Amino acid sequence: MAPIITRGFHHITMVSTRAPRTLAFYRDLLGLPLVKQTVNFDDPGAYHLYFGDETGRPGTILTFFEWPHARRGAWGVGGIHHLALGVESPEAQLKWKRRLTDARVPVSGPYDRGYFQSVYFQDPDGQVLEIATKGPGYDIDEPMDALGRKLIIPPSSRLPEGRDEAGIRAALYPEPVPEVTPDMKLQGIHHITGITNDITRAHEFYESALGLRLVKKTLNQDDATAGHWFWAHYDGKEIGPHSALTLFEWPGATQRARAGAGQTHHIAFRAASAEEQLAWRDHLLGMGIQVSPVMDRRYFQSIYFQAPDGLLLEIATDGPGFALDEDPVSLGRRLQLPPWLEDRRQGIEAGLAPLDMGEGGVPVVAESAGAIGELAGSDRLGGDR
Ligand SMILES: [Fe+2]
Ligand SMILES: [Fe+2]
Repeated sequence: MAPIITRGFHHITMVSTRAPRTLAFYRDLLGLPLVKQTVNFDDPGAYHLYFGDETGRPGTILTFFEWPHARRGAWGVGGIHHLALGVESPEAQLKWKRRLTDARVPVSGPYDRGYFQSVYFQDPDGQVLEIATKGPGYDIDEPMDALGRKLIIPPSSRLPEGRDEAGIRAALYPEPVPEVTPDMKLQGIHHITGITNDITRAHEFYESALGLRLVKKTLNQDDATAGHWFWAHYDGKEIGPHSALTLFEWPGATQRARAGAGQTHHIAFRAASAEEQLAWRDHLLGMGIQVSPVMDRRYFQSIYFQAPDGLLLEIATDGPGFALDEDPVSLGRRLQLPPWLEDRRQGIEAGLAPLDMGEGGVPVVAESAGAIGELAGSDRLGGDR
């Protein structure tokens, strides 16, 4: 059988304690369309919100389970450290820093990560987010047809001791940014970064289970004692969009990620079709991996399994997509329930907090869980985000 190669991420699912606040943050502040409001099919009393580009294309989808009573999750082995969303240019990134700062969301950066430039902040539940520029790309320090073959030591100008921290802090767009202008449009998942205590084992797993390829082997630029490796859909010529998974190495660490508010629940990779998904399931079973049966998630079909360090992974089909039960030009306006829950609609709606379906523009005072600066530097949780 031909090797199975994912084209990249389908979606990422995170945990929110208050759906209305999450909506205000992602739709009104970050400008991401809500493409579906539904409930958690495994727990229909709770919202499941989906954001994405206008149609919710795979690779742009951010979803949230609402767990009103969830305690704060924690970083650790087998967890996701942060999610990075793409933006076209450094200038647009500076506009984001201004817009977020003015909304009282603490932002750090922009940091030169070499392959892209990064700013960091948190959503109201404490999920760490990054906005990363599209370029300059992974071929700045090794040829595009030979990425990931050798260890790259970052230049000292990109490490804490060589950085102009005061200049980085002071960089700010000169004008207020009350609207998300077209040049600022967030372009879906740029990369997702997790934490592992065995990066070699992770490498073998992501290559053989998902067909991802190593595209950069470097060091954590906030803690150069530890590794930072990048994988992606890569054919030797280019890197697929929305496909970069990176891992921080915490060698010997035993602190495991704890599910909860502000933590990623799982990440999903793409299968082009139901047939490919089934072939993939067989492939994973053949590797001795436990895999769930195919689950009907209505807008896609899913299988679930775990990476060796415990991270929950999903493979989701590209179709049928979010226009299945709504007009594609007005996605996300009304609570959608699958047929098997429709007769319970009244009770379900009564139990959910109403969402503001106005045209946005509601001023958002972010209830951020603390300045990002408090996270960085104090211990190895900081990491090269
Ligand atoms: Fe999922
Ligand atoms: Fe990052």
